[in-house]
Amino acid sequence: MKGVVLAGGLGTRLYPLTYATNKHLLPVYNRPMVFYPVQTLVNAGIKEILLVVSGPHSGDFIHVLKNGKEFGINHLEYAYQEKPDGGIADALSLAEDFADGGPLAVILGDNTTDTDVSQAVKSFKEGAVVFLKKVSDPTRFGIAEFDPKDPKKIIGIEEKPKKPKSEYAVTGLYIYDNAVFDYIRKCDPNYAGRGELEITQVNNFYIDDGKMRWEELDGYWLDAGTYDTLLRANLYWAKKAGFTS
Ligand code: TTP
Repeated sequence: MKGVVLAGGLGTRLYPLTYATNKHLLPVYNRPMVFYPVQTLVNAGIKEILLVVSGPHSGDFIHVLKNGKEFGINHLEYAYQEKPDGGIADALSLAEDFADGGPLAVILGDNTTDTDVSQAVKSFKEGAVVFLKKVSDPTRFGIAEFDPKDPKKIIGIEEKPKKPKSEYAVTGLYIYDNAVFDYIRKCDPNYAGRGELEITQVNNFYIDDGKMRWEELDGYWLDAGTYDTLLRANLYWAKKAGFTS
């Protein structure tokens, strides 16, 4: 399976840190943030990766990732998202040629995790898989709703709900079959009222068509998109590498 890292967006929640560089190039302990999602895909056995970039510092990615050889990637490709904050589904739409009719493992560029998704990648056949993680602050995330009659069955995802229907957040790690591009074409930029093509709408299309499965994400996961989570991600990876203060 091929993989995609979505590293567009403007990273406005990290201003002023992201005025002079891209969010995904900020340090998370001893590596630029984008190394972590790339490593997650590589650890899952993926050797062909597309990196979607956008915004004023797009050209800087090549200085750190180069041609991907240091990760053992056979093929590293770059795509440029014209509307820098067009939304996660807009960024993913750029992967259609790269996917070449096949499925894709997709990860957001600000997600750092030590989970191993190689089994899910190997056994994937069709539809979509989302990885869910129990969180203590569900109003901040896309939250899964389960069927009261069948608590394992996901029946919807609600973006930043005021009254969350579960504690399970949708992480930024997904597997999609090639139908994802048809679903993206059906996305409405007004879905969440912010002019973006929302991955939550794509996921809800899969759910409505009965083609979504979910797995609980095993291990550590954090998106590093705010000052606090960026600090926490730094502390986690530093401690894992043996750092003690
Ligand atoms: P977000 O954190 O939702 O958006 P952002 O990175 O622009 O940050 P902010 O809200 O602070 O302005 O996006 C999560 C990830 O999704 C981000 O790390 C990269 C990816 N993404 C894109 O590739 N393209 C986009 O248009 C958006 C919005 C996000």
